[in-house]
Amino acid sequence: MRKKIVAGNWKMNTDIREGITLAKEVNRLIAENHVSYTTVILSPPFTHLTEIVKSVNLNRISVSAQNCSSEPKGAFTGEVSANMIKSTGCTHVIIGHSERRTYFKEDNFLLNKKVKHALQNDLIPIFCIGEILKEREEGKLFEVVKTQLEEGLFNLSREEFSNVVIAYEPVWAIGTGITATPLQAQEMHAYIRKLIAEKYDAEIAENTSLLYGGSCNAGNAKDLFSQADIDGGLIGGASLKADDFYKIITSF
Ligand code: 13P
Repeated sequence: MRKKIVAGNWKMNTDIREGITLAKEVNRLIAENHVSYTTVILSPPFTHLTEIVKSVNLNRISVSAQNCSSEPKGAFTGEVSANMIKSTGCTHVIIGHSERRTYFKEDNFLLNKKVKHALQNDLIPIFCIGEILKEREEGKLFEVVKTQLEEGLFNLSREEFSNVVIAYEPVWAIGTGITATPLQAQEMHAYIRKLIAEKYDAEIAENTSLLYGGSCNAGNAKDLFSQADIDGGLIGGASLKADDFYKIITSF
């Protein structure tokens, strides 16, 4: 059975002290309420990883980086390798977030290299895909997402692919307060699952966790998560408040 997952992408927010406080608060809420049916992931900035790993119960909360290098090591000033991330105690890494694609010009081929490095270092990639508004308006949303999957993930072996989580984040919904409707999100999630079944097989498709991201919050998470092919969320703004994030975690 595929996992229910709620991951908080903190983006470039919080200093270390604030980050530890937030992580401990989420940890407390989960422990007090014995939440065990959802995989909870916190994704703070690189600088916080070691401290956040130490601040939470790793049986209940997993820690993720927000990016990794496409190279294993060497003269790449400012880069952080998958191996370095793994050595902090992290288990996951977000790859291909639309902000990386847009601001840092990361394309599917580079992202595919990152995914492979992550998998080689025993990190679970949370691979982000999604269309911009113009592409949706022009009816190209399925084509765009298909290309992102084909170029970014579909050269993985069956075994490699079985360790990947996919987040569908329509770019027009990220940080805008405009959420995809549950039906819009479900339609795309079902399409993604169909593509996985066609490329690999029905079993892999059935077992792949597909997360929705984009203005998901404590008020709309339940409606989104009740859709057949939505297995949880990748949460931005609402993951910065422990109470809101906790409400989303318990929205299944
Ligand atoms: P918001 O939840 O702030 O829209 O961000 C979504 C996101 O980009 C998560 O990766």
